[in-house]
Amino acid sequence: MASSNNVLDTNAMTLTRFTLAEQKKAPHATGDLTQLLVSIQTAVKAISSAVRKAGIAQLYGLAGDVNVQGEEVKKLDVLANDLFINMLTSSYTTCLLVSEENKTVIEVEKERQGKYIVCFDPLDGSSNIDCLVSIGSIFSIYRKSSDGDPTVNDALQPGNTLVAAGYALYGSATMMVISTGDGVNGFMLDPSIGEFVLTDPGMKIKEKGKIYSLNEGYANLWDPAVAEYVLGKKAKKAGARYIGSMVADVHRTIKYGGIFMYPATADSPKGKLRLLYECNPMAFLVEQAGGKATTGKMRILDIVPTDIHQRTPIFLGSAGDVQEIIDLYTKHNL
Ligand code: AHG
Ligand code: MN
Ligand code: MN
Repeated sequence: MASSNNVLDTNAMTLTRFTLAEQKKAPHATGDLTQLLVSIQTAVKAISSAVRKAGIAQLYGLAGDVNVQGEEVKKLDVLANDLFINMLTSSYTTCLLVSEENKTVIEVEKERQGKYIVCFDPLDGSSNIDCLVSIGSIFSIYRKSSDGDPTVNDALQPGNTLVAAGYALYGSATMMVISTGDGVNGFMLDPSIGEFVLTDPGMKIKEKGKIYSLNEGYANLWDPAVAEYVLGKKAKKAGARYIGSMVADVHRTIKYGGIFMYPATADSPKGKLRLLYECNPMAFLVEQAGGKATTGKMRILDIVPTDIHQRTPIFLGSAGDVQEIIDLYTKHNL
């Protein structure tokens, strides 16, 4: 963010400064959340650097492995996952981690444990890496509420207990969008100082938008509510946009309004997106920005998880648009 003389802003509101100021508003804050967000920033900065030189550093292509989702793992998936795990475990603020890339929970060694649980998708939109389309990272932060050693049950909290959530978008610029429960703020990475700088304070999603976003390749597999909804959008010549990276599609939805959908289909009755590290964090952010996030039948953040990798259908975005799909699920008795 250049200052008036366009050289360097000597008073830039960095993400770390912003988080410290937020921390001071909480009388009992220990600074652990600030420390945790700083460690996440480090992982994101390193991933951003790797993404931007992946073609030169031979980081494209497959890592020659298949993850717990049964998906082929890309080299950048592995690099991003290692960065998140190493930065989080060495922050002394976490006790348990859930990664899209790891079959089971990751317990932080005792002497480095802190009170937070972090669920994360280290690299979202992997299918878009090799063609240079925007990709991202997503994280959600819970507080451990049980006594004793951390177990998988500590990670199975509903999204309505989230302490904070955010995403990083590796697009034409690298941006972090974060909420600690008091609104949503966007920070752009300024490579000249290596800091995330506040550029989008108080992000709000408009009541209704003109864009709908879903993979129409699955049209033959939709339920009647989704089919009727999309037909209605086409009748109104609404704008269709689908990037195929959830972070990019959700960021556009927050910025421009409208709706992002990854519904259940006949062959994937739970949809594709994962509750703990894709749907919950995005639902938290969208609600904090004044929008809605639903399965069509219930609020995403009220789902009580039973498995760390469970999937859920999701419709999120402008409250007015999402309410229309909720009404159609009621109409069709689904
Ligand atoms: P990931 O790369 O972390 O596995 O996530 C990919 C997800 C999400 O980013 C996107 O919304 C969705 O997959 C796209 O799925 P389709 O290709 O089936 O549309
Ligand atoms: Mn993902
Ligand atoms: Mn991923």
